[in-house]
Amino acid sequence: MKIIITRDYQEMSVRAAQLVIDLIKQKPDAVLGLATGRTPIGFYQELVKAYLRREISFAKVKTFNLDEYVGVNRSSRDSFWTYMQTQLFSQVDIRQENINMLDGTASNLQDECINYERLIEDAGGIDLQLLGIGLDGHIGFCEPGTAVDKRTFVVDLTELTMQSNQETFTELKKSPSQGLTMGPATIMEARKILLIANGKNKRAIVKKALYGSVTTKVPASILQRHLDCTCVLDALASGE
Ligand code: PGA
Repeated sequence: MKIIITRDYQEMSVRAAQLVIDLIKQKPDAVLGLATGRTPIGFYQELVKAYLRREISFAKVKTFNLDEYVGVNRSSRDSFWTYMQTQLFSQVDIRQENINMLDGTASNLQDECINYERLIEDAGGIDLQLLGIGLDGHIGFCEPGTAVDKRTFVVDLTELTMQSNQETFTELKKSPSQGLTMGPATIMEARKILLIANGKNKRAIVKKALYGSVTTKVPASILQRHLDCTCVLDALASGE
């Protein structure tokens, strides 16, 4: 595990984005695994800037997002779909058919999960998976206790995750209680992992995940076993 400690949120975003910019330059048809949340907003801004500088193009890039809420329409302001369109997709030259996101309104959620795994496989696997980390150590919506061999699945969200989500909503009155998410096994198959974390409130969980024992109680701790995982932290999250 490679750990990069940066001064602040801005530098964390720039350093993390640079790794993806380098990948796209090297492999213009890269398959990216993407994440939502507060943490990656600056990261996406840096990718957009690189696109506007004509350093990179997304014309051949394929994406797979980690997770989505169950029961929330894509048109909702609070869906991860809308988040991605706003933060990145609408601002770059990505082709809509190369964007893959789980559909939390699918009539058969199990089939949706199985199909998503198939799409990832058909794309040749994920080159780089971006991850944030939840206050309980979750990655995607893989909550504490998730078995490491689980693939994309329907998950009951914890109270802590629901509360944390609630703070970001502008439309939904109540947090959905379920999500669809890639499983730890799906995530661990990505050829590279890029975890980003910032802020004092992440310090304790970052310490446990990166330096504690590998346990399903802290889903992110499994990343210690990945052969090519880079964590970019700001000073507050790193405790330095
Ligand atoms: P956050 O969420 O970036 O909004 O803190 C991280 C996560 O839950 O993965």
